[in-house]
Amino acid sequence: MTQFTLNGQSVTVDVAEDTPLLWVLRDVLGFKGTKFGCGIGACGACTVHLNGRAIRSCIIPLSDAKGGQITTIEGLDPAGQHPLQKAWVETQAPQCGYCQSGQIMQAATLLKDFPNASDADIDAVMSGNLCRCMAYVRIRQAIKIAAAEIRNGAPHE
Ligand code: FES
Ligand code: FES
Repeated sequence: MTQFTLNGQSVTVDVAEDTPLLWVLRDVLGFKGTKFGCGIGACGACTVHLNGRAIRSCIIPLSDAKGGQITTIEGLDPAGQHPLQKAWVETQAPQCGYCQSGQIMQAATLLKDFPNASDADIDAVMSGNLCRCMAYVRIRQAIKIAAAEIRNGAPHE
């Protein structure tokens, strides 16, 4: 049995501890907002937070999450009012949408580390999150809008 906290709720699963966390989130616990893209840590579609930091859940074994705090897109702000979520809507950032939960979770880490994120900061932190629809210009615009909201005191994780 492995216990961890998922979006603020304690969960316990009976799954082999070398199972990738992504499989546990999607197939065991039914949290489908986190996506499977490459399965080798190379695309960012599966990005979630472990203890507040962005990780690739497709290559992290369940054992790494033991006792930890996991946040998925469903838990970032269940009401969808996180500044990033609002900016994503404002800019209509997604096209097909498949990469976008990973993009938002990575961007949430970016804004913790770089509240005044420059283009270079955004490039450096977001470069591992791929978008086959090439929505990069709108994603960058949305990150900058959210950063300004957070600097102005908007609540965020
Ligand atoms: S599915 Fe995890 S990085 Fe691509
Ligand atoms: S919006 Fe389609 S992959 Fe990014």
